Amino acid sequence: MIGKIDHVALAVSDLEAAIALYRDGWGLTLRGREVVRDQGVEEAMFRLGDSNIQLISPLGPDTIVGKFIATKGEGLHHIAYGVENLDDALRHLKAKGVALIDEEPRPGGGGCRIAFVHPRANRGLLVELVERPAGPSAGDAPEA
Ligand code: CO
Repeated sequence: MIGKIDHVALAVSDLEAAIALYRDGWGLTLRGREVVRDQGVEEAMFRLGDSNIQLISPLGPDTIVGKFIATKGEGLHHIAYGVENLDDALRHLKAKGVALIDEEPRPGGGGCRIAFVHPRANRGLLVELVERPAGPSAGDAPEA
């Protein structure tokens, strides 16, 4: 059902500083950045081999990620599993009694469809399921 780790997401308070760290310090390539209002974040995506590092920065203190940083500080926020068919994956998990935050897919960055699984259903780890758009350049748009 899950094919790979699509990305590992870090919650950061200063997106510019975090981008500089991953671009200049770690030497990764910035694929793009975008505001995802639905999640209350601006995100930046860096390619790392077959996978990605996602930096997410809250648009305000009252957002989910803003509250996360206020209570836990910066750091690992979620891991995203890549799936081919998000509807099938959600149906399967629901049938297995796995608690979902999103029962229906919602729009993510880069034209993806995403859904979050409740951390209590996954031994404390917040998991995002990602279905990337089909096509040869899927998820590989040049830096915006
Ligand atoms: Co994510």
